[in-house]
Amino acid sequence: MIDFKNIAGEILSNAISEMKFDEIIKNIEVPKNTEMGEYAFPCFRLASIYKKSPNVIAQEIIGKINENENFEKIAVAGPYINFKINKAILSKLIIEEVMEKKDKFGSSKTGEGKNVVVEYSSVNIAKPFHMGHIRSTMIGYSLYKIYNFLGYNTIGINHLGDYGTQFGKLIVAYKLWGNKEAIEKDPIPELLKIYVKFHKEAEEKPELDDEARAWFTKLENKDEEAVELWTWFRSVSLVEFERVYNMLGVHFDYFTGESFYSDMIPNLLEEMKEKNVIKDDEGIGIVELEDYDMPNSVITKSDGSSLYITRDLTAAKYRKETFNFDKNIYVVGSQQNLHFKQWKKIIELLGYDWASDCVHVPFGMVGLEEGSLSTRNGRVVFLEDVLKKAVEKTKEIINEKNPDLENKDKVAEQVGVGSVVFQELSNNRIKDYTFSWEETLSFEGETGPYVQYAHARACSVLRNANVELEHIDYSLLDDKYSFDLIREISKFNSVVEKAAVKYEPSLVTRYITHLAQLFNRFYHENPILIDDIELKKARLALVMSFKYAVKNGLALIALEAPEKM
Ligand code: ARG
Repeated sequence: MIDFKNIAGEILSNAISEMKFDEIIKNIEVPKNTEMGEYAFPCFRLASIYKKSPNVIAQEIIGKINENENFEKIAVAGPYINFKINKAILSKLIIEEVMEKKDKFGSSKTGEGKNVVVEYSSVNIAKPFHMGHIRSTMIGYSLYKIYNFLGYNTIGINHLGDYGTQFGKLIVAYKLWGNKEAIEKDPIPELLKIYVKFHKEAEEKPELDDEARAWFTKLENKDEEAVELWTWFRSVSLVEFERVYNMLGVHFDYFTGESFYSDMIPNLLEEMKEKNVIKDDEGIGIVELEDYDMPNSVITKSDGSSLYITRDLTAAKYRKETFNFDKNIYVVGSQQNLHFKQWKKIIELLGYDWASDCVHVPFGMVGLEEGSLSTRNGRVVFLEDVLKKAVEKTKEIINEKNPDLENKDKVAEQVGVGSVVFQELSNNRIKDYTFSWEETLSFEGETGPYVQYAHARACSVLRNANVELEHIDYSLLDDKYSFDLIREISKFNSVVEKAAVKYEPSLVTRYITHLAQLFNRFYHENPILIDDIELKKARLALVMSFKYAVKNGLALIALEAPEKM
């Protein structure tokens, strides 16, 4: 694609011998208000070189610049030289590109031949899949899709919390109070109940904790009964999780949880000893990190059993060996910042230069109006309930506004679930937020349904048009509303690239929201299905371009784009 900024840079570079091209490019500004032009070059820097005022310099430079077909206007305003893009050229370029690339419009080949591992969701077995889990699940899955769209080979991993002493506790609890049928019927709440009971009882009877540790050791040693119970807890939990993942439309390439790495731990410990990274501290294996301003990290307990970080170290090595990643991303809440800092430092201490390719992508917390989400205190909002309610509410709205809609149930799911996901991905990920039923179920303003509706509206116009979109006269799209939309569409790929670099799907969410707003403005100001066939064709081509841009953008944040709503 033509890069107008580069062209402006070349034009300036020919007129200014005292400044290098790269320097000029760095100085070119992209003003928010495009009234004067899309690019502006300020002459302040040159003032000290030429020893003249910036306004005079701007005048002198413009005197040396000829007309250029890519810009309809190159003009001076005070100390600035402004470049206004030739609308017809940009329109032709963008619309032809969309027509050619369609579902691939906005994508690129930046990542060709590179592997990116993205770990997301990583929920804990036998615990509720609650509202807070939407964060890692959706931010991570969106990053997975974004990187994929940029040509990377992406590998999505769910690092299930399926190992550790809590499974010893669960086994003890089950043997004391478990009810097989009840668990089979409603696994997570039942397992949670006995787990909570275990903690209460253990306060009075600490020997329960010893028993739990013993059972975890049995599990690590592959004791038959321990493995059987653990396998069962894991599989009934997974059935529950799969239901939620299906509703969200989230995909994983691997469900390799913490347990997957347990067999690799002896090798890791061996290596850590060889490389003098681990130290014995009265039977406990630790890595000293004081020199790096961090607390020491415990790698093995006195009974030899492994910890969360131990499994994360083996997992990282396994991922490097198996996927030879260029980047290894972990989408995990900011409460684990220290854990990931320690972990990365240990990988470095082991001498692996790929430590720098390991990235922790943190995010803020989801609170409830009545306090933080807390499984133990019963302050839980199940994600599945939120999704179901959003779907129900959408159904009601459809029944009211468009009762004859085809595939009503399917659309209600796409829109209802989409509204929850959209909301999750609209905020800067690092921000904490408070979940509110009211806000989640309100479809007013900048929401998923708003954007999906703009897409459906575009589809409906295109369905009703009935003309071949050929031989388009792009110069007809020179009104403000059309061109604002085209200019925004042209930014799609750069927004996606930026979202990938910053690990920030909300950039895509905000971009498509703005796109939908510009489309609605265009749609209200410019009648489309008109008699003037040339104008009609040009406008339809723009509608088509919007349709693909918004649809592809929605897909990157894992939202469906129904054609009718
Ligand atoms: N299961 C963990 C939790 O719920 C999150 C796992 C994050 N991933 C990792 N590789 N440590 O806190």
